[in-house]
Amino acid sequence: HKRTCMCRPLNIPRTKPTPEVLNLLKDLQLTDDNLKQYMKLLMTDIRKGLARATHPTSIVKCYPTYIQDLPTGRETGKYLALDLGGTNFRVLVIELEKNHFEMTSRTFVIPQDKMVGSGKDLFDHVAACLHVFIKEQKLEQECLPLGFTYSFPLVQEALNKGIIERWTKGFKCDDVLGRDVVQLLQDSLVRRGIQKNVKIQAVINDTAGTLMSCAWKSPYCRIGLIVGTGTNACYVEKLTNAEMFNGPNKGSGVVLINCEWGAFGDDGTLNFIRTPEDIQIDETSINPGKQIHEKMISGMYMGELVRLLILRCVKARLLFGGRDSVDLNQKDKFQTKYVSEIEAQKPGNHDRCKAILENLGMQNLSDQDLQNVRFICECVSRRAAHMCAAGLSTLIKKTEEKRITIGIDGSVYRHHPYFHYLMMEKMKVLVKPGVVFDLMLSEDGSGRGAALTAASASSSIY
Ligand code: GLC
Repeated sequence: HKRTCMCRPLNIPRTKPTPEVLNLLKDLQLTDDNLKQYMKLLMTDIRKGLARATHPTSIVKCYPTYIQDLPTGRETGKYLALDLGGTNFRVLVIELEKNHFEMTSRTFVIPQDKMVGSGKDLFDHVAACLHVFIKEQKLEQECLPLGFTYSFPLVQEALNKGIIERWTKGFKCDDVLGRDVVQLLQDSLVRRGIQKNVKIQAVINDTAGTLMSCAWKSPYCRIGLIVGTGTNACYVEKLTNAEMFNGPNKGSGVVLINCEWGAFGDDGTLNFIRTPEDIQIDETSINPGKQIHEKMISGMYMGELVRLLILRCVKARLLFGGRDSVDLNQKDKFQTKYVSEIEAQKPGNHDRCKAILENLGMQNLSDQDLQNVRFICECVSRRAAHMCAAGLSTLIKKTEEKRITIGIDGSVYRHHPYFHYLMMEKMKVLVKPGVVFDLMLSEDGSGRGAALTAASASSSIY
């Protein structure tokens, strides 16, 4: 599998912009010194999140999950899973057999008004979709354990209890802050009349799901990363370091930590590398001041960053002869998937780039214009990949492992043609020599990870 092969040589294309554009975008290029500085700061913040004395005022919260055992590969049974918080909302049914699984899923849309309305409406919608799925799959006569992948910050009090701390990624149902997400879902199941079909066993973060699903296959998996709509990571920490952990010690001596690193920088820590466009994205978002790190990296903001940087170049009259268009001036008109599409073309081929810009009302584009726009895309995705690489290198250091696999999922990592290679390339510079690491694409971590966690919570585990 191409994503697990570390040694495949690959030339990452680098488009040549005009010297003026190169110079204007200097602040997007992070040097190795910048990244090493970033690593130091992140390590400090992770330690603050873990320690009882500093946790209350920490920024990178490092919430202990209640997951203390990695999968054995011997989990069996039939499970339902919900996946809320990514590009799509999904409902799944999964049958785990020894070293083998089968899965059926359906994607549902979450209407915009439900994302920013009351929590009751959101969870009622989730329950309604689950109901549709149960009927479709003819599961009305069964009662199945359910794993809930809920990808937002949660203060976990048990495997099946978690207090909503904040909403991220365009969701904002603030009336349910401070409430238990499992109880909210359970209430919705009861209102829908499907509580008899479902037993909510576990609520987990998507990063934890990703780690679990990779650990099912790879014995060295100790970190899970998401680079999708949002970004975050989790890792396996010693119980002695996880001072906020209140649960019973199940004997493994470790616990998964949900870093919630999207919030890194919320106290100004990342100001030394933020650009005016990063600041603008934050200021015009629905959660200003929050998730600063996430806003520099993830899919929800990547296209918008490119759009604002195009405008920076237009204003300096270095692009399109200083012309712009109505659409180019409209928020979110440059979609994140365009970045992947443009970069996926062979260097020198600008067909897709041209079509996208024409669609945004731009005409008479010169080859140099198209090359400059591709370069802007490369700057943004490269910076994101390098920051993720530095983040992962920090976590590898924190685990003190000498050999480690990182499970990864998310739309940006999956669809961007070079993200994986950009990360690998930079990690080779940042990770201590002698430490062996590899990056593994998770095959549907959110769904299967939830099922595996539900499995370890229910009696079907050996
Ligand atoms: C946001 C959420 C986090 C999640 C990440 C990736 O950062 O707060 O919980 O893991 O997005 O989906």
